[in-house]
Amino acid sequence: VAPEVLEALSKPVMSHLEPEFLRTLDDVSAGLMRLFDLDDGLAIPLSGTGSMGMEATVANFVAPGTRVVVAVNGEFGRRIAEMASRYGARVTEVGYPWGQPFDPEEVAEQAERSRADIVYAVHAETSTGVLNDVARLGRLKGEWLYVVDCVTSLGGEPFSMREWSIDVAYSATQKCLSVPPGLSPIALSSRALDRVLDRPRSWYMDLRLISQYAAPGSQRRYHHTAPTSMVRALQAGLRLVFSEGLDRRTARHSMARDLLVERLSDLGLEMFAPEGYRAAPLTAVVLPPGMEAAEERSVRARLLEEHGIEIGGGLGELSGRIWRIGLMGVNATEESVERLSEVLGKLLADRQ
Ligand SMILES: Cc1ncc(COP(=O)(O)O)c(C=O)c1O
Repeated sequence: VAPEVLEALSKPVMSHLEPEFLRTLDDVSAGLMRLFDLDDGLAIPLSGTGSMGMEATVANFVAPGTRVVVAVNGEFGRRIAEMASRYGARVTEVGYPWGQPFDPEEVAEQAERSRADIVYAVHAETSTGVLNDVARLGRLKGEWLYVVDCVTSLGGEPFSMREWSIDVAYSATQKCLSVPPGLSPIALSSRALDRVLDRPRSWYMDLRLISQYAAPGSQRRYHHTAPTSMVRALQAGLRLVFSEGLDRRTARHSMARDLLVERLSDLGLEMFAPEGYRAAPLTAVVLPPGMEAAEERSVRARLLEEHGIEIGGGLGELSGRIWRIGLMGVNATEESVERLSEVLGKLLADRQ
């Protein structure tokens, strides 16, 4: 978390209806419109983590029988399909091996074939480190509503709802925005706003009710008590993004990823995602040959306990097969890469 964000968090707590907070909320909305690159529509922070953003998109657009197509090449695509099916959708999964990108042409064809109402795609699949070509899928868009998960990519990879014809996108604060977990920025195009269900099954995630309080210019009708300190933290995080500049920020993330790939390759390790489809904020690396689950857990524990560096293990079917190394927000630096590579190099050398 950026020091400026920690400072914002230490300020006195505001009420959710006082004018200063409402100005903060408006400022955050404007910043999110810019970050999602959306001209027309609505962007607000939802009170919950990234999974809540995901579920809010399902709750507000999926009714029993809604035809949903999901491109699934990792844990988060799988989670979307599961959520949609719990809300009664007729879900078609277009599946790919974990670690491979999806094929936009094939997903679009399947969407047409199953007369999809909604198509879901994950931009950076955090379980595998794959960056999917959501821009290309947007260019192939039909009548369907296009929903994109940008939890791990927003602020760390180029992203544009406008240019990529995305109707709905959601993210989370704890990844490339360098803000603690707790808010899920969500953005909806005007076309999406028109298609929000009248009476979604979830009251708490009802975007119409929420926007009567949270949308700029709304009547500020109380819906729930907004987590005011987190909204102020997000405001500080967004200011940092724009003072650095989005292009410079995404270039910094890709520079850090390139250096990490180089250093890991020097250690004899192999990347899990193919070149050209590696998300800058998250690099997945195949475990060294012969390393068992218990040993990989002990390497991660030593990294954390002895060196204060946390890396992730594999999720779901990739547990015990890969490590996942995040370089997000303030941590996407040459210094982080050099520190990790040096320590990991020593730990791996100790094995031999
Ligand atoms: C791509 C993606 N989508 C959704 C989520 C869920 O976000 P959260 O853990 O904040 O609920 C994550 C979390 O890592 C993610 O990486």
